[in-house]
Amino acid sequence: MIMNRHFLSIADYTREEILSLLSRARAIKKEIHSKYIYRPLEGRNVGLFFEKPSTRTRVSFEVGIHQLGGHCIFLSRRDIQIGRGEPIRDSARVLSKYLDALVIRTFGHEILEEFAKWSSIPIINGLSDLHHPCQVLADLMTLQEIGIDLTTMNAAWIGDGNNMANSWINAAQVLGFRLALACPEGYDPAVPFNSVNVSLTRDPLEAVQNADVVSTDVWASMGQENEATVRKTVFKGYQVNEALLSHAGKRVYVLHCLPAHRGEEITDDVIESDRSLIWDEAENRLHVQKAILEMLFAS
Ligand code: CP
Ligand code: NVA
Repeated sequence: MIMNRHFLSIADYTREEILSLLSRARAIKKEIHSKYIYRPLEGRNVGLFFEKPSTRTRVSFEVGIHQLGGHCIFLSRRDIQIGRGEPIRDSARVLSKYLDALVIRTFGHEILEEFAKWSSIPIINGLSDLHHPCQVLADLMTLQEIGIDLTTMNAAWIGDGNNMANSWINAAQVLGFRLALACPEGYDPAVPFNSVNVSLTRDPLEAVQNADVVSTDVWASMGQENEATVRKTVFKGYQVNEALLSHAGKRVYVLHCLPAHRGEEITDDVIESDRSLIWDEAENRLHVQKAILEMLFAS
């Protein structure tokens, strides 16, 4: 049985728990077009506190919660007293009195941890500077759907050692697949790794050797906008394009969490090619997050 109260990081879950979440998400996806009415969140209220913009995370959570019978309240930093300095420990305890769960998109991961410490309701990470676990679960589900075995695949990460890269490392360490990251010096992932299945190089060509899937993300994440010009120079050799992919496995697939900067970290033709799983990846946020909510409310 899954014991964790919160969903802050993939590393907080076991291999069996992650595989069971993914299996449930695939079942939920199949049910969506059936006449079967399933409303486990009936009468529940879920808050979404977002300190950064969002298209996919906000809309997929809001729609998913409605589909499960629950109600959502969207809270931006501007709307609540945290924006005027109310301590998190006070806000967390008060919000716990009204809400049944809270999805948070924020900057420092310690903000999420502080919420989790003081909340009596489940806290779900909708992206922090350190992790983006809901997205990587959706990525893994998308790979399973095309028959890739998550325990034996070869995955490559090209570009910034950011929140997505950190969550990919967590996933590789929990599930055991091989993950080769190529990041420029000074932009390594923050999550420590010492397992033999995870490696880091400066050379994208080396990282994509034999890859079944190649993932990338923007060179400047939200909150790093003032570094964008410098980063464009540093990351120049880290673009996912057809030339790079020709060094990968015979049938290599491409993931990008979106939003993408076409012509920077990935080319337009790769996004639009039949290697791209990007649209299914975005859709699967909806199904994976419903499985996460169901699991948290059941535990
Ligand atoms: N991939 C993702 O989290 O997208 P949004 O920033 O639009 O939520
Ligand atoms: N690394 C990106 C992911 C966006 C979904 C960011 O944090 O902005």
